[in-house]
Amino acid sequence: MAGVSDKIFRQLCKEYGADVLTTEFVSAEGIFRRNERTREYLDFDEIERPLGVQLFGADAAHMAEAAKQVIDWVRPDFVDLNFGCPVNKVVCRNGGSALLKDCPTLASVAESVVRAIAPVPTTAKIRIGWDADSVNAVRVAKILEECGISALTVHGRTRAQGYSGAADWNVIGEVSGSVSIPVIGNGDLTSAADVAKRKRETKISGAMIGRAAMSTPWIFRETRTYLANGSVINPPTPEERWKLILRHCELVVRDWGVEEPAIRSMRARLMAYSKSMPEAKRLREKFSQVSTLSEIEAIARENISQVERPTILAAA
Ligand SMILES: Cc1cc2nc3c(=O)[nH]c(=O)nc-3n(C[C@H](O)[C@H](O)[C@H](O)COP(=O)(O)O)c2cc1C
Repeated sequence: MAGVSDKIFRQLCKEYGADVLTTEFVSAEGIFRRNERTREYLDFDEIERPLGVQLFGADAAHMAEAAKQVIDWVRPDFVDLNFGCPVNKVVCRNGGSALLKDCPTLASVAESVVRAIAPVPTTAKIRIGWDADSVNAVRVAKILEECGISALTVHGRTRAQGYSGAADWNVIGEVSGSVSIPVIGNGDLTSAADVAKRKRETKISGAMIGRAAMSTPWIFRETRTYLANGSVINPPTPEERWKLILRHCELVVRDWGVEEPAIRSMRARLMAYSKSMPEAKRLREKFSQVSTLSEIEAIARENISQVERPTILAAA
């Protein structure tokens, strides 16, 4: 997720049991032009493997060249092609989900990258179509399989939906039943039980979890355990959640080297964490103003004491 799945967050998800990680989407044109900032998005540590670098772009030759550069520079385990991004800035240059409307170009991008980086696998991520009148995920999946794509993630929404409405798991199910390559289902998975249900109902080989990881990164641990033996593990206690939040903030401060801008950059992430916490509304108000680690520690102390008070009263 752009602006979210940086190295620090990816590693936290890995600690909680995520099997496979992907970078934020990276502009093939930026790589092709050797843009320094674009290269920063490619940075990862060995511990993150298996890891894929996700590229977006619409020019087959540039995408192939960029993918080759990425392989030479950082040697990811696979390159993932973004055919799902709904954002205007990307779509108006024919990138992301715009290629769902232009299957010949989509095929030529996929084919060129597969050929350029083989034997390193190329994977792809799609939405189910451009809009409700042009849902074509099954056709696109068959084209991509034909092009040599090794695995396909399907986000069950159209581009027109953005992030509204519900992901259409019927279409994801149809795709997983129509191709032989592994299909990874994505959209609205918020618990281990959700993942188990979708696995039962479709032929997906894997599940991709996006937004839920921002507020409950331990969803990976819960899901692994549930799928392995059906047992439900307790979610982290408030203390454990605060420990994670503070550690995430400390790692970001260390990475930036300057505390205040680093913590300000964490405000949106703190808002996401607050969704899984008691007193969420009050926390959001406080998080919207934090600039230092010690402010967050003070909020943590206050929040934990508020959460514990009713328990003590109940015990009395
Ligand atoms: C902030 C944000 C950034 C995203 N960036 C990307 C991206 O760079 N590449 C991508 O394939 N999908 C991206 N997505 C889409 C998610 O990967 C995922 O497909 C979508 O959120 C639906 O899954 P979920 O319900 O588990 O979140 C992004 C989503 C969000 C909310």
